[in-house]
Parts: sequence; C-alpha cells; structure tokens
Amino acid sequence: MNSSSNRPKIAILISGRGSNMQVILERVKDGSLPLDVVLVFSDKMQAQGLQIAKAAGIETETFSPSEFASFSDYEEKLVNVLKQAQAEWIICAGYMRIIKKNILTNFQGKILNIHPSLLPSFRGLNAQKQALDAGVKVAGCTVHFVNEEVDSGAIIAQAVVEVLEQDTLTDLTNRILKAEHETYWKAIKKVTLKD
Ligand code: GRF
Repeated sequence: MNSSSNRPKIAILISGRGSNMQVILERVKDGSLPLDVVLVFSDKMQAQGLQIAKAAGIETETFSPSEFASFSDYEEKLVNVLKQAQAEWIICAGYMRIIKKNILTNFQGKILNIHPSLLPSFRGLNAQKQALDAGVKVAGCTVHFVNEEVDSGAIIAQAVVEVLEQDTLTDLTNRILKAEHETYWKAIKKVTLKD
C-alpha cells in the first residue's frame, strides 16, 4: 500500500472464514477496486480470514469484547485502532457483532455490511435457513449501510438467486455466497468512489 495515496481507505471487519474479504483483496490487487485496505480486524483470534489477510500483506488486528470491561470500551478501542490506521470506510464482511454507538457516531454513513438475504426479508441470523423455511422461490444477498437497527440501513445493492425445489441449506447458502462475492466489491466501488 502507498500510504500517501489519496484513494479511499477501507478497514474490513471479520469474525471467521473471510471469503468476502478475500474477494475484496483480490479485486484490489487486480486493480478493479481502486482503494487501499488499511486494516483487517477480527474480534475472533482464530478467524481463518486473518491468515488470508496476513498472507496478502495486509495489516491485521484482533481483540475481543471479553477483554474489556464493557462493549462500549471494546468499541472505543476499536475506533482508536481504525483511526490510527486512517480508515475512512468500515466494511463488515461476516463480522458477527452488532455495531453500536461508538463506531456508528465516528463513522457515520461510512459503514457497509453484506447480508445473505433479500432485505428487508430475513434479517438477523440464519437468513438462508429462514428463506428455505419460508418456501420463497428467490433468495439472494443485500449490501447496505449500517445503522442502529440490525440489517436495516439503506440498501446499496442486491443480487437475486433462484431457490430450487431440491435445495439443501448448503446448496442455497453456497449459491447466495457466490452472489455475495460478485456483488460486494462492486457495491463498495460504487459507494466509495462517488464520495
Ligand atoms: C456471509 O454469508 C455474509 O453475508 C454473512 O456472513 C457470511 C460471511 O462469510 N454476513 P465469509 O466470512 O465472508 O466467508
């Protein structure tokens, strides 16, 4: 990364596998997403995605709310780390925590998330299972701004996939994940470059 670059600076927050993060890093590397990833943060030390980020030469940081007296203290530390890294945008990619006041007020209108459903349907956990259980014929993913309500901020982009008669939860989850990988980086590009 060129620290004097005036490209948008993003930090990616993860908690696990990090496949969406990985695609973002790949698109940055191949030049299709012209921005700088200044930090990958995980609230879980064991997150697979941390290894992927390190291997890509990205700065990483990890600590968990359990190390702090309160969730607000945890977020305060995280805000400091994000500011230290000069992050301008926060990209949640499988970050399994609700973003609360401290981060929201410091990065107002600059926090994005991807959710594996066509919002406003199936907010919260296990969205793909919610979709299967509801018997919907199409499902998909949504990139949205993060606000104080879970999975409720303004929608930036959506992609639709079919739900097939014989789909298992794994089938549908994989089909949606593929759509996520095609959708998230483009939505990030659209939002960060017009700023
Ligand atoms: C994705 O399905 C994302 O929509 C959801 O968590 C999952 C993260 O997967 N928020 P990965 O860590 O990006 O592979």
